[in-house]
Amino acid sequence: MNDALARHYPAHLESVQKRFGMALAAAGFDAVAVFAGSPHTRFLDDMDYPFRVNPHFKNWLPLTHAHDSFIAYVPGHKPVLVFYQPEDYWYLPPDPPAGYWVEHFDIRVIKRPEDAPGALPTARRYAFLGEWQERFKHWGFADVNPETLIHALHYTRAAKTEYELECMRRANALSVRGHRAAEQAFRAGGSEFEIHNAFCAACGQTDDEHPYHAIVALNEHAATLHYQHWNRDKPAQLHALLIDAAAQVHGYASDVTRTYSAAQDEFQSLINALDQEQQALGKKVKPGLDFKVLHLEAHYVIAKLLHDFAFVRLPPEEIVATHISNAFLPHGLGHFLGLQTHDVGGCMASPRGDSLPKPDGHPYLRTTRELKENFVVTIEPGLYFIAPLLARLKAGEHSRHMNWAKVDAFRPCGGIRIEDNVVARAAGPENLTRDAFKTA
Ligand code: GLY
Ligand code: MN
Ligand code: MN
Repeated sequence: MNDALARHYPAHLESVQKRFGMALAAAGFDAVAVFAGSPHTRFLDDMDYPFRVNPHFKNWLPLTHAHDSFIAYVPGHKPVLVFYQPEDYWYLPPDPPAGYWVEHFDIRVIKRPEDAPGALPTARRYAFLGEWQERFKHWGFADVNPETLIHALHYTRAAKTEYELECMRRANALSVRGHRAAEQAFRAGGSEFEIHNAFCAACGQTDDEHPYHAIVALNEHAATLHYQHWNRDKPAQLHALLIDAAAQVHGYASDVTRTYSAAQDEFQSLINALDQEQQALGKKVKPGLDFKVLHLEAHYVIAKLLHDFAFVRLPPEEIVATHISNAFLPHGLGHFLGLQTHDVGGCMASPRGDSLPKPDGHPYLRTTRELKENFVVTIEPGLYFIAPLLARLKAGEHSRHMNWAKVDAFRPCGGIRIEDNVVARAAGPENLTRDAFKTA
């Protein structure tokens, strides 16, 4: 099972070293210490929040729990892992490092966090990369999270290695297991809480392990884009489920949404129509594509559906021109995906950190960059019935073009989002999510 990861890992590490080497040279440093992070303790408490490792740390190796560890890299030398392995009986200490990646690191085990400086290799100009703590003040770092370094790292991580793609393929496979079980729980009349539990059990990850808080929205809850509760009550009447939930593998995320109607009704027809359009948009993902253009195309898609299903009495072009489509699709078509769910660098013009503008009227678009080989994006068009946005539309000059009776009839369904993870490839896009659904 780990064979493909073992096979691809050396080339991945080489790519990471190259990216870090170039970024360090451009920023004028001889070395970097990438700090994994420490757990954060809750206010007036002795309990910690769930630990989330520094994304730059897990870029190097598949360790997502190694708090208080460091990766130190001096270009030209084997990377050093300063591995914190306390003697503890309150919490289980991490296992000794094992697996396909270990031979590529010079591993130095420390028993106390304060032993880290003695274990870090020496360098003249050392950059620190991670969440800063006062105790690091006298460790001799030349700079803390230098912007030039971070910009270059963020810009260059958009193109994924085969190792990263394999992690994301597996994250999609796990998500799909969860989505299948979630649909069954929905069809069986489960509450949001029960559907969420079914998702977690089938994908084998707890909520702390998921890349983001799972959105499990029955009925009108789907009209809240990042609806955050898992309601224990069952609605009196069941209309629809929108579930945006996913898994991670070695710190690499998937991000998957599906929408189901409880009945074979017109809402299901709308879902089916959007599903077709969503797949067509996904097929356009390729190197050289300006993501802004595809986002604007998605607005025409939504406008066409608003027209065809008689929500709006205007031709699609005018539905876009009047910004009516913005009320139904008030988020971007998609975003970069990888070490983070909303991965960084989507609007960067260059490794120097200058940014690409967002199209007028589309401030929520997270990706304005031209895609290149092995960039991974989400394709997630949506069509929602969001009360405050509809109220604004109703109060405005375009209200007269609306078929309000029709809109009102769909409000109890909340909305639709369909989200896949797609790799841009010259040979044709790889849809990680659809492939996972096919083989599940
Ligand atoms: N799950 C958050 C998003 O789709 O962007
Ligand atoms: Mn997404
Ligand atoms: Mn999502």
